[in-house]
Amino acid sequence: MTMQPHESSDLDQPGGQPFLQEAEPPALPEFRPPTGPAARPSDARVPLVEMRDIYVAFGGVHAVEGVSVDLHAGEVVGLVGGNGAGKSTLIRTLSGAHSADSGQILINGQPVEIKNPRDAKALGIETIYQTLALADNIDAAGNVFLGRELSSRLGSLDDAAMEAATRSVMGRLNPRFRNFKTPVKSLSGGQRQSVAIARAVHFNAKILIMDEPTAALGPAETAQVRDLVTQLKEEGIGIFLISHDIHDVYDLSDRISVMLQGKLVDTVVKDRVTKDEILAMIIMGKKPGEVTQTELAELHS
Ligand SMILES: Nc1ncnc2c1ncn2[C@@H]1O[C@H](COP(=O)(O)OP(=O)(O)OP(=O)(O)O)[C@@H](O)[C@H]1O
Ligand SMILES: [Mg+2]
Repeated sequence: MTMQPHESSDLDQPGGQPFLQEAEPPALPEFRPPTGPAARPSDARVPLVEMRDIYVAFGGVHAVEGVSVDLHAGEVVGLVGGNGAGKSTLIRTLSGAHSADSGQILINGQPVEIKNPRDAKALGIETIYQTLALADNIDAAGNVFLGRELSSRLGSLDDAAMEAATRSVMGRLNPRFRNFKTPVKSLSGGQRQSVAIARAVHFNAKILIMDEPTAALGPAETAQVRDLVTQLKEEGIGIFLISHDIHDVYDLSDRISVMLQGKLVDTVVKDRVTKDEILAMIIMGKKPGEVTQTELAELHS
């Protein structure tokens, strides 16, 4: 594989509003991940996403070196690591923002080629950017259908159908949401997040990538995002949560993959490790079995 120029803005700079680029909805994904109790991370089913031995270099900089991570239906995997660890670069190869130099991506056990964001969306992969990439002056339905508007048979915009569809998806995700007629700029951070997630879910996301989902939110809004994530899990959606700060994603994650200097330190089941053990992975690159009590204590000194 060769490097491709960025086809859209990256995770940190989502100014390009990828949804605006698309005139029509992506093709439906071929798979339907199971939902309910069978969709637990611990079971041995084929993962929804497998990224195998991914390499990405920028000139002499090895941004991602041989990283393998996976994600199951109904699971949240936190992808954490310090600044420059390679998280965004890794996940951009899944969102289609650029290609890996080598490695393989499998969706439901099938090898796929993701050359651009359109390929990713056709596979049910949607990205929620940190800034949410919402159009501030229009309402929730306008944002859900931004760039993928519904038209009536006469060719005009079908506002009623778009509002009905938005009410329907929001009824599932966040039943307390009432502000359908309000420009999204006057919504709270948590409500704005609901709109961004409704947009992804309406267009059939099976795999969600969320970049620092709660970093800028207060406690009440963080709780709202937690409810949304819980609902998405119940629907069998798999979620990668990316953050440089473990505190942002610890509570929400089922497993946590830690990167340091382009390499995967390890992937751990959240319930089997402490937050300090994850901090030691992030800072020192030491796995839970490798770190001493003294080193753990020094994390707080
Ligand atoms: N387009 C690029 N050109 C050159 N180098 C890049 C590019 N994008 C990333 N890098 C380098 O690749 C490495 C990994 O960067 P990346 O953005 O993936 O890290 P990150 O883990 O997402 O960090 P952060 O938490 O700061 O977002 C860094 O050394 C970065 O400087
Ligand atoms: Mg990043």
